[in-house]
Amino acid sequence: MQIDKVAEIKSAIATAEARNQQELEEYRLKFISKKSVVGELFAEMRHLPAEEKKGFGQVINEVKQLAEQKFQELIEQLNNGLSNTKKETPDLTLPPTQIPVGGIHPLTATRQRIIEIFERIGFNLSEGPEIEDDWHNFTALNFPENHPAREMQDTFFIEKNPDIALRTHTSSVQVRVMENQKPPIRTLSPGRVFRNEAISARAHCIFHQVEGLYVDEAVSFADLKQTLFHFAKEMFGKTTKVRFRPSFFPFTEPSAEIDISCLLCGGTGCNVCKGTGWVEIGGSGMVDPNVLENCGIDSIKYTGFAFGMGIERIAMLKYQIKDLRLFTENDVRFLRQFRPML
Ligand code: PHE
Repeated sequence: MQIDKVAEIKSAIATAEARNQQELEEYRLKFISKKSVVGELFAEMRHLPAEEKKGFGQVINEVKQLAEQKFQELIEQLNNGLSNTKKETPDLTLPPTQIPVGGIHPLTATRQRIIEIFERIGFNLSEGPEIEDDWHNFTALNFPENHPAREMQDTFFIEKNPDIALRTHTSSVQVRVMENQKPPIRTLSPGRVFRNEAISARAHCIFHQVEGLYVDEAVSFADLKQTLFHFAKEMFGKTTKVRFRPSFFPFTEPSAEIDISCLLCGGTGCNVCKGTGWVEIGGSGMVDPNVLENCGIDSIKYTGFAFGMGIERIAMLKYQIKDLRLFTENDVRFLRQFRPML
């Protein structure tokens, strides 16, 4: 009778499970504690005749060991199981953590907007090298050798080779386009340019330009004015006024600086426009016939206009940014303000 009971207890131990702390405790009460079935077996031993005690004692000690061994296994299983469930079943009802999304740099956005405006009126894009030779950056653009005009743009020359420099404007790209294409040419050259200037709130030694060129038969100053007038209104708003101020560039004749009415005060005068009501956005002019000839274009048949603007300057005016250095400092407090863009 006891032998049957022992077999029953053994199989119950073997198949026992503990899926949680409560079931583990139930197992402990049933098979380990003093009042458990195993405990009862020990109590029953007292009533056995002396000659049976030894043999039965061995059997129930075996059962006790089995019960304890299984108890340790269940504890281990439960611990592993608990840590596994933690890893494998995330709480899908939790709200998601926000993943920060990057913005578009104000200079990139401004460049894109400028390109968009000119592409719509038929300008294509052209690019050229940032390291230029003297011909493309100066000579072809009608800068006479040793002429002080070369000093208007403080150039970074390559030591030991005065023929090679970092381009000071993207007009060099336009020379390359004119050398390689026949008119009509309508092209826009955005890019990085370099000038040996001290870094301040208003100047930097590396900045960005967009220059435009239109060469065809019978291109006139009226075309130049109308094109830039259109650009200013698209870029800064319908009420923007434009004025052209006579100026000098070696590669254009006549030449003019382009001013727009101050966006901040609307033309009445403030500290951004220094009380004048106007702010400068770039230079322009009719391409000098010498430049056309230098690039193999017949200057009797063809005329053209060109203009150039600093992208930083346009962005500063559009977003009322007071310090040029902010563009390159990568301060996220500044950059975050340009999201979403335009
Ligand atoms: N290349 C001139 C500059 O960088 C700008 C310009 C371009 C002026 C075309 C006139 C015509 O200063």
